[in-house]
Amino acid sequence: MNICMVGTGYVGLVTGTCFAEKGNRVCCVDIDRDIIDSLKSGIVPLYEPGLSEMVRRNSLRGALSFTCDIAEGLRDADICFIAVGTPSSEGGGTDLKYVYNVADDIASCLDHDCVAVVKSTVPVGTCMEVLDRINSGLVGRGLSDIRVEIVSNPEFLKEGSAIEDFFNPDRVIIGTASERPRSAMLGLYSPFIESEKIIFMDVASSEITKYACNAMLAVRVSFINEIALLCDIAGADVLNVKAGMSLDTRIGGHFMNAGCGYGGSCFPKDIQALDLTGRAMGIEMKMAAATSLVNERQKKILGGMIVERFGKNLKGFSIAVLGLAFKPNTDDMRYAPSVSLINTLVRCGADVTAVDPAAKSGAVKILPRCVKYADTAQAAIRGADAAVLVTEWAEFLKLDWSECGRLMKRRILFDGRNVYSPSYLRSLGFEYYCIGRGCVVGGEI
Ligand SMILES: NC(=O)c1ccc[n+]([C@@H]2O[C@H](COP(=O)([O-])OP(=O)(O)OC[C@H]3O[C@@H](n4cnc5c(N)ncnc54)[C@H](O)[C@@H]3O)[C@@H](O)[C@H]2O)c1
Repeated sequence: MNICMVGTGYVGLVTGTCFAEKGNRVCCVDIDRDIIDSLKSGIVPLYEPGLSEMVRRNSLRGALSFTCDIAEGLRDADICFIAVGTPSSEGGGTDLKYVYNVADDIASCLDHDCVAVVKSTVPVGTCMEVLDRINSGLVGRGLSDIRVEIVSNPEFLKEGSAIEDFFNPDRVIIGTASERPRSAMLGLYSPFIESEKIIFMDVASSEITKYACNAMLAVRVSFINEIALLCDIAGADVLNVKAGMSLDTRIGGHFMNAGCGYGGSCFPKDIQALDLTGRAMGIEMKMAAATSLVNERQKKILGGMIVERFGKNLKGFSIAVLGLAFKPNTDDMRYAPSVSLINTLVRCGADVTAVDPAAKSGAVKILPRCVKYADTAQAAIRGADAAVLVTEWAEFLKLDWSECGRLMKRRILFDGRNVYSPSYLRSLGFEYYCIGRGCVVGGEI
């Protein structure tokens, strides 16, 4: 099949490359010339394990190409995917201008029948608006005989394991109002998944399913984080509580790790969008609203612990921040908990040195200029009064804390992801603080 993939970010590039890998011809389109130039020269401008080699391989054999010109991308396309960003708008809703711009671009140059697939996460009703825009543009060009079918096909891949997720999806959701695009979508996805796991539904249900999934996962994270607050005060251990909950097969253990809050390009904006979509339709989305509020409180927890321990004036204190990206194995800094923490530390006058294996170039654009960056954890913590683990990259899990302790000015560690053993760290002479394990600042397990 010939595919036009509009939007060459985390979702579009991974999706387009995986479709190319399975024998399709894919032309990726982006308005960002730097991204397209970089991809044309064989450099993938984002960090996603395994992606660079797959992009290079498929580009070399002519299955994958890149352009800024959507007309070129659409030339022979059977299917056009829309995979552009849908960030929060100023009021907290979804900014759909990128999606609608693509719809208008398609309308301005399409010259044959095509299936338009919305892969971006969009509020209910958006896909039909995309179809209306394309059709009215075509009518305006005197091309009302061109038939465009609309499909909602939300994406569930996770940054950091995006290729693995795309090749082994739990399910594929296809929302369509008509029968005709079904066989094209089935053909496209059947190399990735058994047909029983390809779920067809109406467009509106498909759009809502994506938000419902993200909201459910975020609810679980906020729920366990709230339980962790209670554990801290009560002298309980949230890991015990989690163990006791997660073996209940009705509950399970996914997305049940207490920590310093969720971030990323999806959960925060999608929960907020769900809240506003409901309200616009006259329904108060109380779960969504509460989940966001709990997460905002949680993102302040590490800053609060540090201020509680050292006081509000952190002038002269040197603090090492381990991990900046919103989660390991990505360079994505969108809504990362590290940002709120570092802003607090800097506001209080701390001297911050940060380290992240992939996110430095994104971080320098959004963090205060006074933040220093180290290449290794050891370099970051050398001479530090305290270290704070924010993102649980594998290399930080393997750190030798007895060696690290020797490098630090003071052995104080705040573990925002509950990855270390309190008794081991304390046996090395560390003052060790974590989330929901009965060690509120100044307390003991
Ligand atoms: N990142 C994730 O983990 C993830 C997972 C599932 C779903 N999603 C959803 O997928 C969508 C894309 O997310 P992303 O993280 O890939 O975004 P992204 O910001 O990484 O990439 C979007 C790309 O679209 C390009 N673009 C914008 N307008 C364009 C236009 N008119 N024509 C061509 N290109 C244009 C931008 O230049 C950018 O490169 C969003 O709706 C997001 O919510 C993201």
